[in-house]
Amino acid sequence: MSGIKFFTHALRTFRTTGSLVPSSPALVARMTKPEDFRKARVIVELGPGEGCMTEEILHIMPEQARLTAFEVNPQFVKLLEKYRSPRFEAIQDGAQHLGKYIEDGSADIVLSSLPLANFSRELKNEIMDAVLKAMKPDALFIQYQYSLLDARLIKNAFSGVKRGYVWRNVPPAVVYFCRK
Ligand SMILES: C[S@@+](CC[C@H](N)C(=O)[O-])C[C@H]1O[C@@H](n2cnc3c(N)ncnc32)[C@H](O)[C@@H]1O
Repeated sequence: MSGIKFFTHALRTFRTTGSLVPSSPALVARMTKPEDFRKARVIVELGPGEGCMTEEILHIMPEQARLTAFEVNPQFVKLLEKYRSPRFEAIQDGAQHLGKYIEDGSADIVLSSLPLANFSRELKNEIMDAVLKAMKPDALFIQYQYSLLDARLIKNAFSGVKRGYVWRNVPPAVVYFCRK
């Protein structure tokens, strides 16, 4: 999708999309540090959109790893078809339903671009429960946001939370690295 098409589509679907432009290369790089993915086998992506994070994850993840992405927007799911392979599948379903597809306690990394601040409390809780269930005990949850509105939700859900900022993104983003 061209930049202008993404922009107009994002305007129409702002509540779920949560952004008018795809994440910057700086934010993608911060979310996908190769050292975090080196030993991962089961990787889950939430809210891939048109695939800027997806493409980088597929590039850095080990050969034997498998990436499953959950995206509610059918137009984005269609775009993600170009990455389809035995190592990647995009599922058109909400992140809150990931337990239907991912075995409990099997995920090494869950990487989320979901615009949590736009969601109801109920949906946020459903998503956090599903993420925690899917994660291995030593798994990593990575989430970016454009505000600190959900800092407490994330802090309460995980025992270890590290926070970083990416200023070279419009708007600047906060990135959470979380352990169970
Ligand atoms: C801020 S965009 C992120 C797109 C891309 N990953 C990026 O960083 O530029 C958030 C994405 O989450 C998707 N989304 C919203 N609610 C969702 C849900 N409940 N489950 C899965 N995806 C969802 C939207 O359709 C949108 O593609």
